[in-house]
Formats: sequence, structure tokens, C-alpha cells
Amino acid sequence: MKPPAAAAKPDGPHGFHAKILATGSAFPKKRLTNHDLAKIVDTSDEWIFARTGIRTRRVADIKGGDSNSGFALEAARKALKRAKLEPAGLDMILYATVSPDRIIPAVSCILQDKLGLKNIPAVDLSAACSGFVYGLSIADAFVRSGQHKHVLVVGSEVLTSLVDWEDRGTCILFGDAAGVAIVGRAEPGEKSRILSTHLHADGSLKELFWMEAGGSLLRVDEEVIRKRQNFMKMKGKEIYKEAVRTLVDCAIEALESNGLKIGELDWFIPHQANLRIIEAVAKRLDLPMERVITNIEQYGNTSSATVPTALDAAVEDGRIKRGDLVLMDVFGAGLTFGSALIRW
Ligand code: UT7
Repeated sequence: MKPPAAAAKPDGPHGFHAKILATGSAFPKKRLTNHDLAKIVDTSDEWIFARTGIRTRRVADIKGGDSNSGFALEAARKALKRAKLEPAGLDMILYATVSPDRIIPAVSCILQDKLGLKNIPAVDLSAACSGFVYGLSIADAFVRSGQHKHVLVVGSEVLTSLVDWEDRGTCILFGDAAGVAIVGRAEPGEKSRILSTHLHADGSLKELFWMEAGGSLLRVDEEVIRKRQNFMKMKGKEIYKEAVRTLVDCAIEALESNGLKIGELDWFIPHQANLRIIEAVAKRLDLPMERVITNIEQYGNTSSATVPTALDAAVEDGRIKRGDLVLMDVFGAGLTFGSALIRW
């Protein structure tokens, strides 16, 4: 299935464009290596690295005071400082996560309170690993419409709370992190801007990655716990295939709708689920790995946080410079998939 062709977005009604003003990220201190995991489940550093490209991941210390909203707060403060903005300058919070502090209330409201804010809209977005790009797309629309000037987009996860530490097929993959971007108005005539976003979903693939209990369909009781239904489950091989296909299709869609060729791209930031998926996508797109930004080796799959943390690191270390063409390309449970093409 190919995503429907879509044109690059038109200007907002006032001629406004949106851009990313600043980024920020935060990680738990605790590091878990593949060797550490080999003491918990029947696995090895060789197997994990060969199949996924992961060496270590960070794990939240919840009893020690870590939380999803705490990481988001740390990342948001960094981004606000870099954007030279006070929290009061924010008009909206879009918080992408599948591992909120609690189901009720929305973790975006918890972050709003931690930032000392009142009244601005705060929304949780459940689009799994595509969540940050979904948030970027919504923020872009609000800024271009003139309704909001500054939108905080968060991708933050504590997936290690949802992982089954007895399932070697999943527990080796995931880690915890937060990445954020502040989306604001581009100056008239400025080249830096969000050029396009394309969002897709295919609910017929909902059973490739799921968690049976925890929602309203299945109450967490002793039987659920005994059957380990309160943890994430995944059909790894099927997702792998869909991931390669959707990432390639979405990259082509973004480039074609902007009249661009792959050679014109400075940087490609795909969702970091598995380095082998990323390499297969780069090969199919005929894109050298030197132009692909990855952080999976150090952090594993941090779901909605992979793209904003990778973007933040590349901006901070000077790889991404103002004027560079950057393509973010994602897929996740749902399935959800999409892209955001930006001129940094
Ligand atoms: O954010 C999006 C969500 N997830 C993804 O994108 C994941 C996409 N899928 C993948 O990355 C890969 O499918 C995995 C890395 C999860 C698994 O790799 P695979 O090459 O598809 O392995 P497999 O599941 O087919 O298993 C191959 C073998 C099996 O043993 P047998 O049946 O051949 O004896 C597994 O039991 O590897 C075994 N195995 C392991 N061995 C050592 C599975 N997990 C492990 C492990 N350590 N951790």
C-alpha cells in the first residue's frame, strides 16, 4: 500500500510559515548495557548488536523520582533557554507519548503545571513512535493559521515501565528519553521553515504492536498479571517489513511533493527502532549512511523521543546547520507513519 500522494502544504492564510525555534532533550542517568540484559534474559551483546545495532539504553529510576513528565520538563527548559523564551511565552503543549505518568490526568497537564503555566491548552497525543512528527504537524498548522505563536511539542517516554523484562524479544529494544521542539513563526522571507508534513495511519495493522490490558477493555487484575497482559507485545518480523515499506514510501512522498531529489537532502532522521531497518531504508532510497542521523546504539528505541533527541544532538554538535534540508521519517504502533521535511 502506497500512501496517497499529497501536495506540500500551502502558506497559512496570513502568509505565515512555522519553523523549529529550538530543541532540547533529557535522559535518565541509569544506563543498561546488553551485557546487563544478558544477566536478566537469555540473550547476548553479540545477538542484540548484530540484529538491532543497540549497545545500551537508559532506564528511568521511578522509585528514585524519575518520571516521563520530569524528563519532558528538563528537555523543555533547555529548549526554552535556547529559544530565549520564558514558559509564559508558550501558547500550547502537544505531548506525544504512550507511557504517560498516569492515564488520568493527561501528562501534558502535569507538564503545564510543572512549567508554572495555567490556561494554555495541553493535549496528549497517542501515535506511538510517530507521535513527535504528528505533534510537529499539528503545531505547524496552529502557527501557520496565526492562532498560536509558540507551541511546545514533546516526545517523551518511559517505555521501560511497560516492558516485559522476561520477554527477550522486546525488552532488549526499548529505552527512556525525552525530546522537545518549540515551533514558532518564521520571519517573513526567512528560509528556515517546516516545508511539509504528511501523516498516515493504517488501523488494520493494529495487532502488530499492542498492550492488552491497562485500557478500558481489560482491567488489570491478578489473572492479567499472571498472563503478563499488562506489558507491550510485538510481532517483530511483521513490523520490520511494514517499517521499511512505510519509511521508504513516506520519504519519497515528502521529496516528491516538494519537488526535491534524494541528493538534495542534507540529513535524514528516521525513527530509531532498529539500525537494520534504517540501513535497509537508506539503501532503498540510495542515501549514504553518512547523511543519516542515528542515536539507537546509545539509547535504543525510545518511541516518540527518538526523532527529537536525534535532531537535538545533531543541532547541538553542529552537524545540522541553519539552511540544511532535514527529513524526519517515522512509523509506529497503530500503525501510524509520516514525515516532516524542514529547512533548518
Ligand atoms: O518502534 C517500533 C516497534 N518495533 C520494531 O520496529 C521492531 C521491528 N522488528 C525487529 O527489530 C526484529 O524483528 C527483532 C530485533 C525484534 C527480532 O529480530 P529477528 O531477526 O526478527 O528475530 P526473530 O524474532 O525472528 O528471532 C530469531 C531467533 C529466534 O530463535 P529461533 O526460533 O530461531 O531458535 C528467537 O527466539 O532469535 C531468537 N531471539 C533471541 N535470541 C537472543 C529473539 N530475541 C532474542 C534475543 N536474544 N534477545
